[in-house]
Amino acid sequence: MKEIKNVEYGLEKIFEDAQDFLPLMGTDYVEFYVGNAKQAAHFYKTAFGFQSYAYAGLETGLKDRVSYVLKQDKIRLVLTTALNSQSDIGEHVKKHGDGVKVIALWVDDARKSYEETIKRGAKSYMEPIVEKDAHGEVVRAGIYTYGETVHMFVERKNYKGEFLPGFRKWESDYKPASIGLKYIDHMVGNVGWGEMNTWVKWYEDVMGFVNFLSFDDKQIHTEYSALMSKVMSNGNGRIKFPINEPAKGKKRSQIEEYLDFYEGSGVQHIAIATDDIIKTVGELRYRGIEFLSAPPQAYYDDIPNRLGDHMKIMKEDIGELQKLAIMIDADEEGYLLQIFTKPVEDRPTLFFEIIQRMGARGFGAGNFKALFESIEREQANRGTL
Ligand code: FE2
Repeated sequence: MKEIKNVEYGLEKIFEDAQDFLPLMGTDYVEFYVGNAKQAAHFYKTAFGFQSYAYAGLETGLKDRVSYVLKQDKIRLVLTTALNSQSDIGEHVKKHGDGVKVIALWVDDARKSYEETIKRGAKSYMEPIVEKDAHGEVVRAGIYTYGETVHMFVERKNYKGEFLPGFRKWESDYKPASIGLKYIDHMVGNVGWGEMNTWVKWYEDVMGFVNFLSFDDKQIHTEYSALMSKVMSNGNGRIKFPINEPAKGKKRSQIEEYLDFYEGSGVQHIAIATDDIIKTVGELRYRGIEFLSAPPQAYYDDIPNRLGDHMKIMKEDIGELQKLAIMIDADEEGYLLQIFTKPVEDRPTLFFEIIQRMGARGFGAGNFKALFESIEREQANRGTL
């Protein structure tokens, strides 16, 4: 299965077509609304190798919520829980279960980012606010994207502190070692039936993104289910948001299962980059993270065939990849290694992808069939296929 590029020319040219009214420097943080932030923080430290970073709660003057911030290399996760029954945070958790509320984007000018996107049709979540402490000031403003998910613009050029004003450093004696997670490679959204193109257009019109890869249900299907996906990217390629929608199949697709259990559109998976996937995945398994089962033997036997010339630069041992159930895919520019966790909360909703790029800039289209068959085995176990 080949990934189909929307236009014939190269990615650099595609990115030039992206609008520059919204320059994004990277992902600033990802905030989850969860039922128990204290325990979730322990899980992400123990299992995923995050470090304690910042904290805000009753001790810092908050009355209605508590947030634990974790860090690993360039990745910052914020885990937030309500402290009373009147909170929107609690309502969010009641409806969706634990999930991603905020995908925060690092910008040079939060006010301008807000104005430009609102002018182009974004729905406001939070007007620009200036937060200050002894280390300077941060400007933040937010807009809604799909479902109840939010993009927060974060301007921190006049801030020397660790995270955000209002947070204090979180010191902990418990410091599990990092497992080599580097940065967020992409974050995928699941949207409802017939809504993919609406959101593709929204990212084009409101955010100035471009659609640089598309997969239709003829490309992404198994015997039982199908989905469609379009990958949106900003102008410098640092922010990539694939958008999935379900497609008709004989049985219920994984996207439908997600939409049923999340009760709406939301973030399906967060892909995190490593530069040593064998070490990272070995460590995650040792720490109790469960992954989707390995593709069949024939998949691994066929790797030299699929990789062609890239076999010459491949350093990893195929037997070792198979032992860890890591998948591999190639395009013209190189290859990539990837693996997917099972959902990380009780509802079958959000999961993680671990990815190591060796030149390839795709998303593992060659693995879609094996991946979805593996997900369907899980769905069958849950009685949701
Ligand atoms: Fe992915």
